[in-house]
Amino acid sequence: MKGSVFGRGFLGTRIAEELGYDLPDIDVLDIKALRAYLDREKPEVVINTVGKTGRPNIDWCETHREETIMGNVATAMILGSICSEKGIYFVHFSSGCVYQGDNGGRGYSEDDEPNNYTNVYTRTKIYSEKMLMDLPCLQIRPRMPVDERPSERNFIDKVKKYTKLIDEQNSMTCVPDLLQALKMLIEKKALGVYNLVNPGTISAAEIMRMYKQIVDTNHGFEVITAEQLDKMTLAKRSNCMLNTSKLENEGIMLPDIHDAVRQCLLRYKENLGK
Ligand SMILES: NC(=O)c1ccc[n+]([C@@H]2O[C@H](COP(=O)([O-])OP(=O)(O)OC[C@H]3O[C@@H](n4cnc5c(N)ncnc54)[C@H](OP(=O)(O)O)[C@@H]3O)[C@@H](O)[C@H]2O)c1
Repeated sequence: MKGSVFGRGFLGTRIAEELGYDLPDIDVLDIKALRAYLDREKPEVVINTVGKTGRPNIDWCETHREETIMGNVATAMILGSICSEKGIYFVHFSSGCVYQGDNGGRGYSEDDEPNNYTNVYTRTKIYSEKMLMDLPCLQIRPRMPVDERPSERNFIDKVKKYTKLIDEQNSMTCVPDLLQALKMLIEKKALGVYNLVNPGTISAAEIMRMYKQIVDTNHGFEVITAEQLDKMTLAKRSNCMLNTSKLENEGIMLPDIHDAVRQCLLRYKENLGK
């Protein structure tokens, strides 16, 4: 299938390489250029990984509200509407951070209303997700992507820079598993919202304990509480657990998050030297 990925960032680059899709250098807000590209290239699948995710982290979104809304909501609206009009299968990257909490231990399923309105970034993800529910598209919700390749956006690289970490349980996504699941969902031409996280939960501190064992025995950090972290950040961070039954009911079985992170760390160590 001929496909195009918009958003030449961390996930977009990985997806375009894995699926062999085009990765055009187009500002999605430039509707004329976008239409010209789609009319010329005629992709059957468009994946939207465009976004303002904040550098070095989502605190940036709190102080750059207009850019965040344009980058996360307007771009999704433009790409979703034009793909729908042209009959192109559209895949949008939402986020599992639309939730806060563990839903009484069950994890949040795709039918549960998002409940994390605590910061600008997650609000834009909720608004774009809701808007796209009126169009035929697949929306996937990854969370805290852990990858086998070093990169500033890889959760491993993000947290290894911090000397203070929380030990709260969270749903997370290993990128190699995300790529396989995404391929399967596209082959099925699945529609609707899917939580795309590995089963089980893990904490940032647990990952760094594994990192210390596998990658760097000298690595050190201190564990702090979620309340202490809240006082150190502009945007309140979400800790949440997502339910993965919908993905499993499609026959897409991802490895448990602990096994998946271990595999990522082993390959991450090999890739560090390259
Ligand atoms: N990584 C995560 O932790 C995570 C977790 C869950 C969900 N997601 C979602 O997954 C998607 C991709 O995330 P990511 O980590 O790959 O983010 P990323 O590395 O920040 O990539 C986003 C890319 O979109 C580009 N972009 C922004 N506005 C654009 C526009 N108008 N036209 C074209 N490109 C534009 C950005 O370019 P500039 O840098 O020049 O702005 C950047 O290259 C986002 O929707 C994000 O919300 C990410």
